Amino acid sequence: MKLATPDILKETEHALDLVAKDSLTAEDKAWLTQVTADYYANFVNPGILEYRKSVSTDYVSVEWSDHANSFEDVQGRRYLDLLGGYGIYNVGHRHPKVVEAVSHQLKRQALHSQELLEPFRAILAKLINDITPGDLQFSFFGNSGAEAIEGAMKLAMLHTGRKSFIAANAGFHGKTLGALSATAKAKFRQPFLPILPDCYHIPFGDADYIESALKSADEVGNDIAAVILEPIQGEGGINVPPDDYFPRVRELCDRFGALLIADEIQTGFGRTGRMWCVDHWDVVPDIMCMGKSMGGGVMPIGAFVSNKTIWEHLFPEPWLHSTTFGGNPLSCVAAIAGIHVLLDEKLPERADKMGTEMIAKLKALRRRFPKLCADIRGKGLMIGMEFPTDAIGYEVAKGLFDHGVLVAGTLFSAKTLRIEPPLTLTPKEMDQALDAIEKVFKETNAKHFEKKK
Ligand SMILES: Cc1ncc(COP(=O)(O)O)c(C=O)c1O
Repeated sequence: MKLATPDILKETEHALDLVAKDSLTAEDKAWLTQVTADYYANFVNPGILEYRKSVSTDYVSVEWSDHANSFEDVQGRRYLDLLGGYGIYNVGHRHPKVVEAVSHQLKRQALHSQELLEPFRAILAKLINDITPGDLQFSFFGNSGAEAIEGAMKLAMLHTGRKSFIAANAGFHGKTLGALSATAKAKFRQPFLPILPDCYHIPFGDADYIESALKSADEVGNDIAAVILEPIQGEGGINVPPDDYFPRVRELCDRFGALLIADEIQTGFGRTGRMWCVDHWDVVPDIMCMGKSMGGGVMPIGAFVSNKTIWEHLFPEPWLHSTTFGGNPLSCVAAIAGIHVLLDEKLPERADKMGTEMIAKLKALRRRFPKLCADIRGKGLMIGMEFPTDAIGYEVAKGLFDHGVLVAGTLFSAKTLRIEPPLTLTPKEMDQALDAIEKVFKETNAKHFEKKK
C-alpha cells in the first residue's frame, strides 16, 4: 500500500521530530524499534534481519547515538565498540574536532558548485601528499572504498596500456563491477562473471605465486596492468603476510612493468600501528587507495593517490574520471580534521602500543582455551580471533554482544571475529573488553569442549 501525500507528510514530520529530540519517550522507543524491524523486512531487505540475528534475536537492537568509543541503541543500552564500523572510527565516534569542522562548513556551504575551485579539496589533496609515502602526490576523491578501487584500476590501465590484473585469494576490494573483479569471494562474484575477465587470483602472502603469475602472463603476452593487494587482508580473515612479502612484490612489479596498487581502505590511517600499513615494510606503491576512516568517522569519503608520472595521463582530460559528490566540502573538511586528530593525538603510535598489548593478552587467553580459539593474529588494532567453525565464531560474537561489546565476523565468514576498535580506545575499555572476552571464552568453551560432570 502506498500513502497519499498528506499521510507521507505526517510520517516525514514524525521522523524529523524524532531526529530533533534530545531524549526519546518510551512510546518513541517502542515505535522506532517496531517500525525499524518492520520497514527493514518490507522496504530494505528481510534477509538483513536474518543476517543480523546476533544483534536481534531475543533483543532487537536499533542504534541511536554514539560517543567516543561506544554507542547506544534506542533503549539506552550501551555497547563498547570493538568493531569500529569495520574500520571507520579510527579517531573515535564523532570526535569533537571533526564534528566542529563539519558543523562550521555546514553553516557556510554543504555541497559544491561543480564549477568553481574548492579550497578544502585542494588543501586535503596537499595533506594526502604530505602523509603518504614516497612520491605519491596527486589525489582523486570519491565517496567510498570501491570507487577508489575503480579509479585505481582505470588509472593502471591508462598508464600501462594493459588490461589484466593480479589479485589475491581471500582479498576484498568492494562490490562494484571493477572492484568485484579483484575481490575473491565466489559467493559475491559468481552471479556476475565474467566481470573483468582478465583478473587472476593467487594465494596471498607468498611472492613466488606472484612471480609465476607475472612470468606466465608475460610469456603469453597477457601483460599485467597491476597487482592489487590489501597489505593485511581484512574481510578475508585478518591475514598478515610475512615481512618480506610486500618488498618482494614491489620488486617483481618493477621487473615486469606492472603497477602495485595497495588497498589501504581498511588498513590505512593508523589502524595497524603506522599511518599506512605498507610503512611497516617501507614499500611505496604506485597507487594507494583509501577510504573508511578517511572521513574522520563522520563523513563518507575515499581516494586514490598516485605519483606525477602516472597521474599525467589524466592531465589532458581531467574528466576522464569524475563523480558528482566526490571531494565535496563537508567530506573534505571532515578528512582534514580526522587527519589532524590522528597526528595530534598520535593515534598510529597508540594503535601500535595498545595493539601489541592486546594481541599479547589475547594470545595468553588463547593458550588457556586452545580448542576454542584456533588463532590470534594482527597488527596494531587490527586483530583477528579465529574459531574452529563459523557457528562457534557466531556464538562468541553473540555472547560478547550480550555482554555489551560489539565485534563481528568478516564479510567472508564468522569463523574469524574482528577486533578493530577506535584507536582512541582507553586502557580501561581495553580491560573491559578483555574481561568480556574471557567470560565468553569460558562459557563457550564449557559448552563445547568440557566434559559434563
Ligand atoms: C580492503 C577494502 N577494500 C575495499 C572496500 C570497499 O569499500 P566500500 O565498502 O567503502 O566500497 C573494503 C570494505 O570493506 C575493504 O575492506
